[in-house]
Amino acid sequence: YSYETYKETADWLLAHTKQRPKIAVICGSGLGALADLLKNKMVFPYEDIPRFPRSTVAGHAGRLVFGELSGKQCVCMQGRFHFYEGYHINKVTFPIRVFYLLGVKTLIVTNAAGGLNEHFKVGDIMLIKDHINLPGFSGQNPLCGSNDERFGVRFPCMSDAYNKELRRLAREASEELGYKEFVREGVYCMLAGPSYETIAECHMLRTLGADAVGMSTVPEVIFAHHCGLSVFGISLITNKAIMDYDSTEKTNHEEVLQTSTIRAEALQRLVTQLITYSHPP
Ligand code: 6GU
Repeated sequence: YSYETYKETADWLLAHTKQRPKIAVICGSGLGALADLLKNKMVFPYEDIPRFPRSTVAGHAGRLVFGELSGKQCVCMQGRFHFYEGYHINKVTFPIRVFYLLGVKTLIVTNAAGGLNEHFKVGDIMLIKDHINLPGFSGQNPLCGSNDERFGVRFPCMSDAYNKELRRLAREASEELGYKEFVREGVYCMLAGPSYETIAECHMLRTLGADAVGMSTVPEVIFAHHCGLSVFGISLITNKAIMDYDSTEKTNHEEVLQTSTIRAEALQRLVTQLITYSHPP
């Protein structure tokens, strides 16, 4: 997409709402209820927004919700786009540059993920401190292709993709909320999906240093960090990745959605509190 394409969508949104959010939130599987908490909502179904892709998975609505959370203007994606749905990687990341052109400074991403770290429990909340872009290793990086300097540099640094200060504030918020015993920190690894990992793949990912595995987030984070947004990410550990050949368990989407509803409220409170504490530049 050209600069003008993103601009067309951003200008359309700016013309259709008076709100000027500094914070964007992407709601992961089963975590869309966060958007319902916004005050003075203005809702745009994706299909009404020029150039915007549409969502196809159960558990993901498809709308952009503008409104206030903790008195701060936010825009929430209720439903995101996944590579496994068959979208080009730049459709997955399309909303990020639109947010940037709206004037957004901070991106908060949430996802449902499988726990690889043996100390993690189902229902844990993992603050993402780093990622492994496995699809990127095989050429699926959203920044492939010509670079438009209006968004960022050709070769962006990724060692600081996840903002330390936001993570510190989130730790502070989780302490205050009494969530300390289920809030962890770790490395998120993205796989393209849609099939879940084999046992051997889980062992490989653990050896590589991943604490959680999922099918989203990384392309959006790369795009966001490229254009200078501060990024904060959370994985909700909805199930444990299967590491044992004697196990009779099977990973399934229903379990993922079920766990996400159990912890959805805690996650909403944590994000809300983080937004209360944060001061977008
Ligand atoms: Cl176990 N794997 C992947 N790739 N994505 C997930 C998951 C597992 N659990 C939730 N999302």
